[in-house]
Amino acid sequence: MAPETEENTGRRSFLKTINILIGGTLAAVAAIPGIGYLLHPLRKDSIAFKNQESRLGPIRSFKVGTPKKVTISAGRRDTWLTTPAVTVGSVWVIRTQEEPAEFTVLSTVCPHLGCPISHREKGFVCPCHNSTFSTQGERIEANGKSRPSPRDMDSIPHRIEDGMLLCSYKRFRTGATQKIAMES
Ligand code: FES
Repeated sequence: MAPETEENTGRRSFLKTINILIGGTLAAVAAIPGIGYLLHPLRKDSIAFKNQESRLGPIRSFKVGTPKKVTISAGRRDTWLTTPAVTVGSVWVIRTQEEPAEFTVLSTVCPHLGCPISHREKGFVCPCHNSTFSTQGERIEANGKSRPSPRDMDSIPHRIEDGMLLCSYKRFRTGATQKIAMES
Protein backbone atom coordinates (compact mmCIF):
# COMPACT_ATOMS: atom_id res chain seq x y z
CA MET A 1 0.00 0.00 0.00
CA ALA A 2 1.38 3.40 -0.99
CA PRO A 3 2.21 5.65 1.95
CA GLU A 4 -0.37 8.34 2.64
CA THR A 5 1.05 11.54 1.20
CA GLU A 6 -0.47 14.87 0.31
CA GLU A 7 -0.05 13.97 -3.37
CA ASN A 8 -1.91 10.62 -2.95
CA THR A 9 -4.75 12.28 -1.08
CA GLY A 10 -5.09 14.91 -3.80
CA ARG A 11 -5.14 12.27 -6.55
CA ARG A 12 -7.80 10.25 -4.76
CA SER A 13 -9.94 13.31 -4.30
CA PHE A 14 -9.56 14.22 -8.00
CA LEU A 15 -10.53 10.67 -9.12
CA LYS A 16 -13.54 10.72 -6.78
CA THR A 17 -14.74 14.02 -8.31
CA ILE A 18 -14.30 12.62 -11.85
CA ASN A 19 -16.29 9.49 -10.88
CA ILE A 20 -19.12 11.59 -9.47
CA LEU A 21 -19.21 13.76 -12.62
CA ILE A 22 -19.25 10.74 -14.97
CA GLY A 23 -21.89 8.95 -12.87
CA GLY A 24 -24.08 12.05 -12.75
CA THR A 25 -23.79 12.61 -16.50
CA LEU A 26 -24.70 8.99 -17.28
CA ALA A 27 -27.70 9.13 -14.93
CA ALA A 28 -28.91 12.37 -16.54
CA VAL A 29 -28.60 10.91 -20.06
CA ALA A 30 -30.47 7.76 -19.00
CA ALA A 31 -33.28 9.86 -17.51
CA ILE A 32 -33.93 11.99 -20.63
CA PRO A 33 -36.38 9.58 -22.33
CA GLY A 34 -38.36 9.20 -19.11
CA ILE A 35 -38.54 12.95 -18.56
CA GLY A 36 -39.57 13.43 -22.17
CA TYR A 37 -42.31 10.82 -21.77
CA LEU A 38 -43.65 12.53 -18.65
CA LEU A 39 -43.54 16.02 -20.13
CA HIS A 40 -44.89 15.08 -23.55
CA PRO A 41 -48.58 15.56 -22.64
CA LEU A 42 -47.84 19.07 -21.34
CA ARG A 43 -46.90 20.13 -24.84
CA LYS A 44 -50.34 19.12 -26.09
CA ASP A 45 -53.71 20.68 -25.60
CA SER A 46 -54.64 19.46 -22.12
CA ILE A 47 -58.32 18.97 -22.94
CA ALA A 48 -58.15 16.95 -26.11
CA PHE A 49 -61.88 16.92 -26.74
CA LYS A 50 -62.74 20.48 -25.91
CA ASN A 51 -63.34 21.40 -29.53
CA GLN A 52 -65.22 18.29 -30.48
CA GLU A 53 -68.73 18.61 -31.85
CA SER A 54 -71.68 16.95 -30.17
CA ARG A 55 -74.39 15.13 -32.10
CA LEU A 56 -77.81 16.49 -31.19
CA GLY A 57 -79.74 14.01 -33.33
CA PRO A 58 -81.11 13.47 -36.85
CA ILE A 59 -82.82 16.63 -38.10
CA ARG A 60 -86.00 14.64 -38.78
CA SER A 61 -86.34 14.09 -35.02
CA PHE A 62 -87.00 17.81 -34.45
CA LYS A 63 -90.41 19.28 -35.23
CA VAL A 64 -91.10 22.93 -36.03
CA GLY A 65 -92.72 24.62 -33.03
CA THR A 66 -91.71 21.92 -30.52
CA PRO A 67 -88.47 22.78 -28.69
CA LYS A 68 -86.57 19.71 -27.57
CA LYS A 69 -84.06 19.49 -24.73
CA VAL A 70 -80.93 17.49 -25.61
CA THR A 71 -78.24 16.40 -23.17
CA ILE A 72 -74.64 16.97 -24.23
CA SER A 73 -72.00 14.37 -23.40
CA ALA A 74 -68.29 14.64 -24.03
CA GLY A 75 -65.15 12.68 -23.24
CA ARG A 76 -62.32 14.56 -21.60
CA ARG A 77 -58.60 14.06 -21.50
CA ASP A 78 -56.46 15.96 -19.08
CA THR A 79 -52.69 15.80 -19.06
CA TRP A 80 -52.42 12.09 -18.33
CA LEU A 81 -55.93 10.67 -18.03
CA THR A 82 -58.69 9.94 -20.53
CA THR A 83 -62.15 9.66 -19.05
CA PRO A 84 -65.25 8.25 -20.73
CA ALA A 85 -68.02 10.54 -21.95
CA VAL A 86 -69.84 12.39 -19.19
CA THR A 87 -72.75 14.82 -19.24
CA VAL A 88 -71.41 18.35 -19.64
CA GLY A 89 -74.64 20.26 -20.19
CA SER A 90 -77.78 20.49 -22.25
CA VAL A 91 -79.35 22.66 -24.93
CA TRP A 92 -82.77 23.60 -26.21
CA VAL A 93 -83.11 22.79 -29.91
CA ILE A 94 -85.73 24.83 -31.75
CA ARG A 95 -86.49 23.93 -35.36
CA THR A 96 -87.45 27.21 -36.95
CA GLN A 97 -88.06 26.05 -40.52
CA GLU A 98 -89.13 22.77 -42.13
CA GLU A 99 -87.41 22.95 -45.54
CA PRO A 100 -84.64 23.77 -45.78
CA ALA A 101 -84.24 22.81 -42.14
CA GLU A 102 -83.11 25.64 -39.87
CA PHE A 103 -82.49 25.60 -36.16
CA THR A 104 -81.82 27.76 -33.14
CA VAL A 105 -79.78 26.03 -30.42
CA LEU A 106 -79.77 27.64 -26.97
CA SER A 107 -77.94 26.78 -23.78
CA THR A 108 -80.22 25.72 -20.93
CA VAL A 109 -77.96 27.55 -18.46
CA CYS A 110 -79.49 30.83 -17.25
CA PRO A 111 -77.10 33.76 -17.85
CA HIS A 112 -78.10 35.22 -14.46
CA LEU A 113 -76.80 32.66 -11.94
CA GLY A 114 -76.81 29.42 -13.91
CA CYS A 115 -80.13 27.75 -13.03
CA PRO A 116 -81.63 25.45 -15.69
CA ILE A 117 -84.05 27.21 -18.02
CA SER A 118 -87.38 25.52 -18.69
CA HIS A 119 -89.64 25.65 -21.70
CA ARG A 120 -93.09 27.07 -21.33
CA GLU A 121 -95.91 27.72 -23.75
CA LYS A 122 -94.72 31.09 -25.07
CA GLY A 123 -90.97 30.76 -24.73
CA PHE A 124 -88.64 29.98 -21.85
CA VAL A 125 -88.46 30.79 -18.15
CA CYS A 126 -85.86 30.48 -15.44
CA PRO A 127 -87.72 29.47 -12.27
CA CYS A 128 -85.00 30.68 -9.88
CA HIS A 129 -85.59 34.44 -10.23
CA ASN A 130 -88.24 34.47 -12.93
CA SER A 131 -86.28 35.61 -15.97
CA THR A 132 -88.38 35.12 -19.06
CA PHE A 133 -87.30 34.66 -22.66
CA SER A 134 -89.01 34.53 -26.05
CA THR A 135 -89.22 31.39 -28.22
CA GLN A 136 -85.89 32.49 -29.73
CA GLY A 137 -84.23 33.12 -26.35
CA GLU A 138 -84.49 36.92 -26.25
CA ARG A 139 -84.98 38.48 -22.82
CA ILE A 140 -88.52 39.66 -22.16
CA GLU A 141 -89.20 42.56 -19.88
CA ALA A 142 -92.34 42.49 -17.78
CA ASN A 143 -94.30 45.68 -17.00
CA GLY A 144 -91.35 47.78 -18.15
CA LYS A 145 -89.03 46.11 -15.63
CA SER A 146 -86.01 44.23 -16.81
CA ARG A 147 -85.57 40.66 -15.62
CA PRO A 148 -82.56 39.47 -13.59
CA SER A 149 -80.86 37.80 -16.54
CA PRO A 150 -78.25 40.28 -17.83
CA ARG A 151 -78.50 39.02 -21.43
CA ASP A 152 -80.47 36.82 -23.82
CA MET A 153 -80.17 33.05 -23.60
CA ASP A 154 -76.80 31.94 -24.98
CA SER A 155 -76.94 30.63 -28.54
CA ILE A 156 -74.75 27.64 -29.37
CA PRO A 157 -72.97 27.30 -32.74
CA HIS A 158 -74.40 24.41 -34.77
CA ARG A 159 -74.49 22.92 -38.26
CA ILE A 160 -76.08 20.09 -40.22
CA GLU A 161 -74.06 17.27 -41.76
CA ASP A 162 -75.60 14.29 -43.57
CA GLY A 163 -78.98 14.87 -41.94
CA MET A 164 -77.43 15.11 -38.46
CA LEU A 165 -77.57 18.25 -36.28
CA LEU A 166 -74.23 18.95 -34.59
CA CYS A 167 -73.23 21.64 -32.12
CA SER A 168 -70.07 22.99 -30.54
CA TYR A 169 -71.19 23.13 -26.93
CA LYS A 170 -69.79 25.85 -24.70
CA ARG A 171 -70.53 27.29 -21.29
CA PHE A 172 -70.58 31.03 -20.77
CA ARG A 173 -69.86 33.20 -17.77
CA THR A 174 -72.95 33.97 -15.71
CA GLY A 175 -73.81 37.42 -14.39
CA ALA A 176 -72.14 39.24 -17.29
CA THR A 177 -73.87 41.38 -19.88
CA GLN A 178 -71.51 40.07 -22.57
CA LYS A 179 -71.36 36.45 -23.70
CA ILE A 180 -67.94 35.26 -22.52
CA ALA A 181 -67.02 31.63 -23.22
CA MET A 182 -65.49 29.67 -20.35
CA GLU A 183 -62.58 27.28 -20.77
CA SER A 184 -63.50 23.58 -20.72
FE1 FES B 1 -82.06 32.44 -13.71
FE2 FES B 1 -81.61 33.96 -11.61
S1 FES B 1 -80.62 32.12 -12.14
S2 FES B 1 -83.07 34.23 -13.17
